[in-house]
Amino acid sequence: MYFHGTTKVNDKGHLEIGGLDTIELAEKFGTPLYVYDVALIRERARSFKNTFEKLGITAQVAYASKAFSSIAMFQLAKEEGLSLDVVSGGELYTALAAQFPVEKIHFHGNNKSREELEMAMEHQIGCIVVDNFYELELLSTICAEKGMQANILIRVTPGIEAHTHDYILTGQEDSKFGFDLQNGQAETALRTALDSHSLHLLGIHCHIGSQIFDTTGFVLAARKIFEKLNEWKNNFSYEPQVLNLGGGFGIRYTSEDDPIPAFQYVEEIIEEVKTQAGRFLMKMPEIWIEPGRSLVGDAGTTLYKVGSRKEVPNVRQYLAVDGGMSDNIRPALYQAKYEAVLASRPLAKAEETVSIAGKCCESGDMLIWDLPLPKAETSDLLAVFCTGAYGYSMANNYNRIPRPPVVFVENGEARVVVKRETFADLIRFDLPLTEKVKN
Ligand SMILES: Cc1ncc(COP(=O)(O)O)c(C=O)c1O
Repeated sequence: MYFHGTTKVNDKGHLEIGGLDTIELAEKFGTPLYVYDVALIRERARSFKNTFEKLGITAQVAYASKAFSSIAMFQLAKEEGLSLDVVSGGELYTALAAQFPVEKIHFHGNNKSREELEMAMEHQIGCIVVDNFYELELLSTICAEKGMQANILIRVTPGIEAHTHDYILTGQEDSKFGFDLQNGQAETALRTALDSHSLHLLGIHCHIGSQIFDTTGFVLAARKIFEKLNEWKNNFSYEPQVLNLGGGFGIRYTSEDDPIPAFQYVEEIIEEVKTQAGRFLMKMPEIWIEPGRSLVGDAGTTLYKVGSRKEVPNVRQYLAVDGGMSDNIRPALYQAKYEAVLASRPLAKAEETVSIAGKCCESGDMLIWDLPLPKAETSDLLAVFCTGAYGYSMANNYNRIPRPPVVFVENGEARVVVKRETFADLIRFDLPLTEKVKN
């Protein structure tokens, strides 16, 4: 079994994270429980940042906060000198509540509302990544009304397909995101931005997909973009200050995954950008990246309590836990795979193959299929690894199941950073039939 970060087996033979026994964590905070290994998040952040610094490249490493957003997480990102990518008014609000430096916030999204764009402008955030013509016009109008100028990146789709699951592909031509680089849309957007007094075009953005295990896609995307940039240099005397190559760096969910280390992604991206800038005699742009999953994914572990067991003779053993698609919808949404151990005996030999079912009223609510495990009893604690990205942030209240708490562990200390929802929380917006809604 592969243990990430500070995860290990302690003297009692129990699973430990951040210097704390997971059995004790579950006793103290209940289950399901999201546990984040803060030291590992710091290590990942530093690995990305230090590589740029070591190679003398002006850069921003923006945490793609959709992976897991909370006030404490944003404060941690701030402590580590990261920038922040937000995609909604809610994420921006959280960033402001965390007092994240506004100039390091980048606002994404394919359908930002007027209210969201106004909020971004009023708080003078670092840049807006413009996704489509509607937004380009709306943002210009808002800026003109407010007498302001917005720093923008133009998001392009370079037509590169990253090798990953279809649902999380965003760089190919048939995508809801961005301006197509090949069919002239990106050029029209560029000219519109250059002609507008309300917009200051910092540069170009692309994001080719997620859970990418090598640098081929990034290299190809950089090449395609530079070929277009060369045309734009010749035709419009435009050279970008910033090239943002997005996120998508893969992590090891299971033994089938074999990503390269963070520094290697960065080194090879820098090398390609240098080569391309040299090839077209262009000045070296700042390189921005937006890792989400690779900063927090393997730092997260979910602890569940085992409940019921159902045997389908000669077919399958179902083992049900006290959470499921309400706290981690990824397996149901796109067949995401995870590994797990029993926290009380993580190294014990597997004695059976079980499938881990959630408790939601949905046959598709399965967390792990065909997991080799020692014989588990009711009340045993199951630790599912690598749940730190798109787990809690996609959690929901299906079946009115309260969302679990999130605990940060580091150097033997645990801090609750998101409280467990209560039943009372679940009904706080409900109004009885008999009461008239007051405006
Ligand atoms: C524009 C953009 N940047 C960054 C990311 C982060 O991707 P990942 O978490 O795979 O690094 C995403 C993910 O959807 C994205 O859409």
